[in-house]
Amino acid sequence: MWHRGLTCLTAIALFGIQLPILARESPPLLYAILAIGARQLERKEKAQSSFDSLELYEGAIRLLTPPLQARDTYFIAACVVLCCLEMFSASTQDWRHHLEGCAAVFDAFRVNGFSGGVSQAVFWCYALMDVCGALISDGTERTLLEPAKWLPNKTPENLAETLFRSTGSPDMYANYAVYLCAKACELISDRSRYVKLGEENGCDFPVFQDRSAKLWEKLSNWSLYCPKELPSVYSTVSNPFPHIFFAHWAAMSSNQLYHTTSILLLAANPKLKGAGLSPTTSFIWHAKIICGISLANPHEGCLNNAIQPSWIAGRLLSHSSEQALVVKTIRHIEALTGWTAC
Ligand SMILES: *[C@@H]1O[C@H](CO)[C@@H](O)[C@H](O)[C@H]1NC(C)=O
Repeated sequence: MWHRGLTCLTAIALFGIQLPILARESPPLLYAILAIGARQLERKEKAQSSFDSLELYEGAIRLLTPPLQARDTYFIAACVVLCCLEMFSASTQDWRHHLEGCAAVFDAFRVNGFSGGVSQAVFWCYALMDVCGALISDGTERTLLEPAKWLPNKTPENLAETLFRSTGSPDMYANYAVYLCAKACELISDRSRYVKLGEENGCDFPVFQDRSAKLWEKLSNWSLYCPKELPSVYSTVSNPFPHIFFAHWAAMSSNQLYHTTSILLLAANPKLKGAGLSPTTSFIWHAKIICGISLANPHEGCLNNAIQPSWIAGRLLSHSSEQALVVKTIRHIEALTGWTAC
């Protein structure tokens, strides 16, 4: 069974158990699940045609269209599964287009990252795709669903950390890393629109400095004060990349996103490097760890989320042996999961 999501077990439970159970009562969801399964098989087996998945996909769409009033979990779940399917094989230029529909659905139905139940699990599956889409835009785009809408209505931004932490779940703390990455994309895109397009969004130099320093501190706190499940259990100092092993399913992708977000912020605001000698202010340190995480944790559900971080890290590494290893890793992920990566 193909699965995707920030945390492997959540994704396995969602795609492998919860959605199939819901699908008993929802033909469009059933079609959507069968379509994504078929598409993954076709891609992994390098099938010549994608006839089966296309037919199932069309079946799902046909069934989804008439009752548009369907303001329910089935509808939202089917939309996200179809979006996953589209992202799976789409060129990156088409990603935003595919994500837009989902963003509108979450917005309209006011489903957020704390809605509970299957909707919440489906939301985080979507949120991660949205962040990946923003990551590959190179600082020009923010997430389609703005991070404020990831939290319950009218939650003040400074309560976000408490909110994620108070769930007591390592999965939700891992999702907090996704949220922080979305905040970084939002900040960087605000700044670039202010500078390059003259957009009046208030992100002048002092505001930018202030916002980036605060976000950097939150990010540092994410790593300093994370629950015991999330730090690595073992790491090596091997060359060119350290091997970093994790025990908990929530740990791998969230740490990789933490390092990716660090790179984004350091690149956007060199002042963050400060005078400190801490390795956390070094691009290369973060980049090597990102690669080391992909190499040492070959779990399929986690590797799905390693593509964009590996791409961002790979661009910072200058030695040809390091670059070759990054390319190999990305090719490996593509072969193993069927995701279009190259
Ligand atoms: C980071 O954590 C420290 C210690 O808990 C806290 O005092 C500080 O306010 C936190 N910073 C941010 C930006 O949340």
